[in-house]
This record gives sequence, C-alpha cells and structure tokens, in this order.
Amino acid sequence: MPIAFEQVSYSYSAPAKKKRGKKAAEIPAVGDAPALGQTDADIAPCAADATNAAASNAPRPLWGNPEGKTWALCNITFTLEDGEFLGIAGHTGSGKSTLIQHMNGLIHPTSGRVLVDGVDIADKKAAAAARSNVGVVFQYPEHQLFAATVYDDVAFGPRNMGLGSDEVDARVRESLAQVSLDFDDICDKSPFELSGGQQRRVAFAGVLAMRPTKLILDEPVAGLDPAARNDFLKLISELHEGGLTVVMVSHTMDDLARYCDRILVLKEGLLFALGTPEEVFSRASELREIGLGVPSAQKLANDLKDAGIGLNGRLYDTASLADALAALYRGAEGKPVSLDGEGETRTAARTGGGKEEPCPK
Ligand SMILES: Nc1ncnc2c1ncn2[C@@H]1O[C@H](COP(=O)(O)OP(=O)(O)OP(=O)(O)O)[C@@H](O)[C@H]1O
Ligand SMILES: [Mg+2]
Repeated sequence: MPIAFEQVSYSYSAPAKKKRGKKAAEIPAVGDAPALGQTDADIAPCAADATNAAASNAPRPLWGNPEGKTWALCNITFTLEDGEFLGIAGHTGSGKSTLIQHMNGLIHPTSGRVLVDGVDIADKKAAAAARSNVGVVFQYPEHQLFAATVYDDVAFGPRNMGLGSDEVDARVRESLAQVSLDFDDICDKSPFELSGGQQRRVAFAGVLAMRPTKLILDEPVAGLDPAARNDFLKLISELHEGGLTVVMVSHTMDDLARYCDRILVLKEGLLFALGTPEEVFSRASELREIGLGVPSAQKLANDLKDAGIGLNGRLYDTASLADALAALYRGAEGKPVSLDGEGETRTAARTGGGKEEPCPK
C-alpha cells in the first residue's frame, strides 16, 4: 500500500472542503478548476509558480506571506514505499506536520492528490481505509491520554473499530508488551500517575493496538532524556524490522542518518531534497543555508575533507569515521599520514617534535 503524493499543495487559509463523499474529483488536481469556495487566486500562487526547490530557482511560493495565504505545502510529489523507513526533516514551520497529516486523510490537499494504493483518499471510504492502516503518533502524544485507566486508553481504538472484548483484550496485552510495559503492573493505573516516558509508551500502545501497517511519528523522542530517547528509537527500529513502514519527523540529523532508508527535506513548504542519507547529507552546505545540520560524525568528516584529509565521501557515523581515521593514520603501507597539510605528522604532533616516527600499529 504505497502512499503517493501527486503535486500536493496545502493552504491553511484555503483548505479543501472536508465533506466530499464519493466525489473525490472535487479536489482539484493542479491546473484544474479550484474547489468550491476557492478562487483561482487561492490556488494559483503555489500550484502554478512553484516547482521543487531543489530543481530550479523557481519563484518562492507565498509561504508565510503577509497577505494571509500561507502555503504550508507546495507541489509535493513523492511516494512512500511499503516497508521503508522515511525520515522527514526541515526547519521549523517548513510543513513537516502538515505533510504527515495528509498520509491518513486527516487533512486533504488544497490542490493535488494523495493516493493510497492507487486510490485517491479524498474519497471518504478510501480515507477511512487509509486511517485504519496508518497510525499517526503526534508530537507529545501523552497529552492526548484521556481515559481513567491505561487499559481503557489503549483499548479505545480497538473498541471503536467494533471488535469483541476478547480481541480488544488480546490487542491491549500485545501492544503493551510491544512497548515493554508490564500488563499486570500497569493496566489498572491511571495514565496520569505514570512518568512522562511511560505515558508516551502508553500512547504508542494505543496506536499499535489498531495494528497499523504504517506508523507515522511526529518528533517521537522530543523532550525525552537520553536513555529514554535511545529506548524509544530502539523500539521504533524494532517495529520497522518487524515489518512496519515508518515515517519519522525529526530535527536530529544523527537519528535520521542512523535509522532511515531515505530522508525527505522540506524548505518553506517545498520539497528541498529526497534521497538516501548519503545523498542528502552530501549537500551539507545547502542544508546549512536552510538552517539544518548534518550528523555530527559526518560534519567532522566533511571538515576533514575540506582540510585535505582524503575521506571517501560516504556517510559516516562515529564508529565508521573512527575506523576510517585509524586506517588513514596507520597509512596504507604503515607510513604516517600528514593531518595538517604542513608536513607535520600526527605522530609528530602528538609527541610535540618535528621528527617523523612510525605510527603505532
Ligand atoms: N492550524 C494552522 N493554521 C494556520 N497555519 C498553520 C496551522 N498549522 C500550521 N500552520 C502554518 O503552516 C506552516 C507549516 O506548519 P507545520 O506545523 O506543518 O510546520 P513544521 O515543519 O511541522 O514545524 P515544527 O518543526 O515547528 O513542528 C507554518 O507556516 C505554520 O505557521
Ligand atoms: Mg511540526
């Protein structure tokens, strides 16, 4: 069930009408007549003028313009493939949260289309089907806990699906286990007496209990301490390895580099980059211009490369960068390697002398 975005633009000041019934065509594709209640002027600025930012020097969309037509998204075209782990990055206000809300039909494009398995989810039935397959975990999901007990909170979704009590019970147990919470210990507690990290796990469990095939996560580890962050990222990675398609919005480039198959970068509502972490993070200077960094090990590798150290341009994490530097340091044939371009060797720099010594093996 791939999710295809076709030239999707979205304006909060001219959203698509919600009630479309079967008439999916009421949402205009780019170039079509505007939807009911919309004027050409509502649609045209983004749809007509803008292209993907990476592709050209196209005129800027009216992103955040003072006249009130904020194009939160502009001409976004890409396909989320089954089984992939897609990262979404971008400066604050670039449209990340708006983009993911299109994936389960929570909001609909002002122009363009979102197709799930080839079906436009402007159609009510298709949107309902998409919703049952696509679990969205919003930022700080613990803020949406509401029931008197953990059990009831996690059971809410399955009950809403009309499932029998045995099936609901099985799902609550399974999803609490998935997030490493002990059913007997926690099911009768109020969610509000749990720690923040536990509350977030409960909120996750509530989404997993719907048995989605796709998990869309908006900054899932924001605000957690380092240990809880790692636990959560490990959980997300395990869910992905278990077969779930994962989309993760994050401001942390190290996390995106580590876990994602591809990364989509937004800039002012436009698709700025889409590719593997290697491809995206090789554009370090362009990313810097839009206020984004690269993973810390990659930044060091780029700086070393600029300083004349011959690294091969691949994507580095701390371990692979350490290996590459160690190999360079030893030298291909046991020769010391100059690190400063001035002829001083690392060994010499370490010992404080100018005399070259063999590097330690
Ligand atoms: N409910 C809303 N009404 C009007 N404008 C909105 C609304 N929500 C978002 N916007 C605007 O749409 C644009 C994209 O917002 P969005 O929340 O998608 O950005 P984001 O990339 O998720 O940002 P952040 O990193 O801060 O979470 C911004 O200009 C924002 O001000
Ligand atoms: Mg957001």
